[in-house]
Amino acid sequence: MAGTATAEASGVFELGGDLPVRRLGFGAMRITGAGVWGPPADHDEAIRVLRRAVELGVNLIDTAESYGPHVSEDLIAEALYPYPDGLVIATKGGFDRSGPGDWTPNGRPARLREELEGSLRRLRQERIDLWQLHRIDPQVPEADQFREIQAFIREGKVRHVGLSEADPQQIERARRFFPVVSVQNRYNLADRAWEPALEHCEREGIAFIPWFPLAESKLVSGRGALAEIARRHDATPAQVALAWLLRRSPVMLPIPGTSKVEHLEENVGGAGIELTLEEMRQLEEM
Ligand SMILES: NC(=O)c1ccc[n+]([C@@H]2O[C@H](COP(=O)([O-])OP(=O)(O)OC[C@H]3O[C@@H](n4cnc5c(N)ncnc54)[C@H](OP(=O)(O)O)[C@@H]3O)[C@@H](O)[C@H]2O)c1
Repeated sequence: MAGTATAEASGVFELGGDLPVRRLGFGAMRITGAGVWGPPADHDEAIRVLRRAVELGVNLIDTAESYGPHVSEDLIAEALYPYPDGLVIATKGGFDRSGPGDWTPNGRPARLREELEGSLRRLRQERIDLWQLHRIDPQVPEADQFREIQAFIREGKVRHVGLSEADPQQIERARRFFPVVSVQNRYNLADRAWEPALEHCEREGIAFIPWFPLAESKLVSGRGALAEIARRHDATPAQVALAWLLRRSPVMLPIPGTSKVEHLEENVGGAGIELTLEEMRQLEEM
């Protein structure tokens, strides 16, 4: 298999202009139980995945208070603390969980603060490098949520802030309160509904972190052009789907998620595949 590169091959993006990360990161939502609830089926494999990610040059790990809840953050600290230089752990707050698969946005300032304090404690950090508002809660005045986040930065508890599932207008309204360094929206080869947000991020130099980069593994099997191009590169469809994201925009920071070392190694290998413009076009026409 040709795609055996490390994350270094994906290049570097500077979050907020001063926090460099390799563009291919790791999403730590899948190292939890079914429905992103409770502990993973294989605790030791989850620890190996996290350590292997770092060995493979990944230095952006995405997590959230709500993954487990708490399980993903706890495992990251267990596997990687004391953290290697340059490792950026990006966490999030803004969801309540009541069971497997249940997610309820909660942007009340007191709840956001409680989540941040919990993340700091579990991750054993004095400051979160990148804290992301998991959802802008439509039930809470937007300005109340943004003002609280502004306070997190002022108090030195958060270095940089990102949003998730945000459109260009929301991004610009948030930027009146703090610099928005990243936007994490659902995006992959088969689902490009957030294209306007991506283009906005590109214009503004904001990182775009596509979640579900493998369409929850639907792109792994690969058909048509995806399978054909994968064969041509002696690679897998998952690797080509990730290579497509990396080539699609210089602000793109994919964070494929997995609970298995074998899948992690495969995914990171996608960083080394260089697609031609013609191949990009064929994939987009799929
Ligand atoms: N901001 C948000 O609202 C939001 C929402 C969802 C996710 N996220 C973040 O985005 C990250 C990525 O999203 P995701 O993990 O849901 O989706 P994904 O990366 O598109 O796909 C993950 C799924 O694909 C499987 N998979 C991964 N690599 C594979 C491979 N090489 N071969 C076969 N199967 C493979 C995984 O199963 P195995 O465990 O079996 O490999 C898992 O079921 C998450 O981890 C999380 O950090 C954010």
